[in-house]
Amino acid sequence: MMDMESWKLLRSICILSFLLGSCFVYQSLRVVDAQEDPKPAVTLQVDASNGAGRPIPETLFGIFFEEINHAGAGGLWAELVSNRGFEAGGQNIPSNIWPWSIVGDHSPIYVATDRSSCFERNKIALRMDVLCDSQGCPSGGVGVYNPGYWGMNIQEGKKYKVALYVRSTGDIDLSVSLTSSNGSRTLASEKITASASDVSKWTKKEVTLEAKGTDPSARLQLTTTKKGSIWIDQVSAMPVDTYKGHGFRNDLFQMMVDIKPRFIRFPGGCFVEGEWLSNALRWKETVGPWEERPGHFGDVWKYWTDDGLGHYEFFQLAEDIGAAPIWVFNNGISHNDEVETASIMPFVQEALDGIEFARGDANSTWGSVRAKMGRQGPFELKYVAIGNEDCGKTYYRGNYIVFYDAIKKAYPDIKIISNCDGSSHPLDHPADYYDFHIYTSASNLFSMYHQFDRTSRNGPKAFVSEYAVTGKDAGTGSLLASLGEAAFLIGLEKNSDVVEMASYAPLFVNTNDRRWNPDAIVFNSSHLYGTPSYWVQRFFAESSGATLLTSTLKGNSSSLVASAISWKNNGKDYIRLKAVNFGATSVNMKVLVTGLDPNVMKVSGSKKTVLTSTNVMDENSFSQPEKVVPHESLLEMAEEDLTVVLPPHSFSSFDLLKESAKITMPISDSSSHQKTTTL
Ligand code: AHR
Repeated sequence: MMDMESWKLLRSICILSFLLGSCFVYQSLRVVDAQEDPKPAVTLQVDASNGAGRPIPETLFGIFFEEINHAGAGGLWAELVSNRGFEAGGQNIPSNIWPWSIVGDHSPIYVATDRSSCFERNKIALRMDVLCDSQGCPSGGVGVYNPGYWGMNIQEGKKYKVALYVRSTGDIDLSVSLTSSNGSRTLASEKITASASDVSKWTKKEVTLEAKGTDPSARLQLTTTKKGSIWIDQVSAMPVDTYKGHGFRNDLFQMMVDIKPRFIRFPGGCFVEGEWLSNALRWKETVGPWEERPGHFGDVWKYWTDDGLGHYEFFQLAEDIGAAPIWVFNNGISHNDEVETASIMPFVQEALDGIEFARGDANSTWGSVRAKMGRQGPFELKYVAIGNEDCGKTYYRGNYIVFYDAIKKAYPDIKIISNCDGSSHPLDHPADYYDFHIYTSASNLFSMYHQFDRTSRNGPKAFVSEYAVTGKDAGTGSLLASLGEAAFLIGLEKNSDVVEMASYAPLFVNTNDRRWNPDAIVFNSSHLYGTPSYWVQRFFAESSGATLLTSTLKGNSSSLVASAISWKNNGKDYIRLKAVNFGATSVNMKVLVTGLDPNVMKVSGSKKTVLTSTNVMDENSFSQPEKVVPHESLLEMAEEDLTVVLPPHSFSSFDLLKESAKITMPISDSSSHQKTTTL
């Protein structure tokens, strides 16, 4: 930091210079905390002249949402009940009802599953034979409980809507309660009572519970003290407070929005493929009333989903976060089996129907299903991906071409993504984009900054839909990993004439069932944090649609990567410099911005943001969610010619506000008191 004496001297020089009619006397100014011998080791030359630079695609940075690690079921989808229709054990009986369990002692109750549900696609229902009555039952009654996804986050004052289907041979008197994890404390409770005639057939019952206490590991209990048989099916408990009432958990939703994603690729990944086709996701089973969705076991990530977050909800999500949806569908290929091209038409029709569901008018066959779900007008859908990571499989190419031709014929404007890598060889089939996935070490990814430098400038554009540092370097989300990724992203930004879209993978992990490591957003029922990789993505939020400025790094820069963009926000113009210092020593970087009018940089409003930590393997955690997060501070000075300090193992950005000649001068010892002088 500059001491007071230096400030006073500088101020005097400036005032003197001003009086002489020229106040921009400094040729090289320290923006931040340059060390006492600020001899720059490297120079970043930036051409900011008007009209120079190249537009960065509007879509460059987005997100990839895969149903992995309970990202949706037990995550973004706010449904609190897990296995709501008792189908998770399969369609046969006896069925495993996990995680449902019996409240207290088993002796006064007998619980079994049968196939008596009124829902054709999910016939399993739960039957409770209550053997006690108000005299003999334990005081709280007997029944079953559901702990949700490793505990329900019930919060005092919040409301929860519980819906369930019930049938009985007699009158019913059921308590629907939210309780602590062992049932000892009741947070909210309502009664459902009905006469035998009312519930002799399956009947839907709903109650709204208002919580009188908070517990992040609560459970839902259905109990009674009435002797008799009672059947239960399709039990849902939803917080009333979800994003716009659309069913998305608010805190996780906000983390996504804060990345400012321009697209969202969904719902997988391997989730779309399946280990076997019989278990692959079929979108038609995820639409319509939630009670009628059969759910399915995703055999790659090995968990059951009730598919509350289905085809419709994904399009709603894309719209709510303001991102273009990119739908990935199964192309008749799983990890272990394939449909041969001669028999692929049903899969092609399924894909066409899925597009019609999103885009068709409300009178079309599938558009009408969407309309019945509450959405008359179409959703936007301009991109689809034919399969995931199966280029080279026996029937990939043949199947792909049938899909491609059929989709282009029906929807010529839809952009199609092939999952063969076209970055080093031309594709042998038509495509608008090719998919590129990379999971590697931090140093490899750092050096892949150059990956697309030599890619042909003709042909389809790259969609880097999955990238991340993995393995030892990554820990469970280290600073080191994020620095490799930051350098790679700067490389993508520089090559954004051939790379049009990029997204990190995976986005979410519920720590109770980590199926893939590392991930960008870590959560449990009540807490969440971003890994350093998440925060790196936030540095790029303004890049999509910005202008890439030509920049050159000179000097000993083997562990440095840097770039410059110009962008607008609220009618103001900024230049953003970004730099990764992958090395273990601090570097002074001189920045020479050419092509600007004199005095166009404005100090107030200019800022630096630095992501670093004392140890390169440092991570965030539930107990220290902000150990490795970007730190923002105002720049003390900004000029066309300046020196910045890049701390060891760091990612920094410098936002320089371009405006008419206003320079902010400190006028007292306290840097918070500033005076603006218009020159
Ligand atoms: O992102 C995790 C997995 O990595 C994806 O499902 C798959 O596409 C890739 O192998």
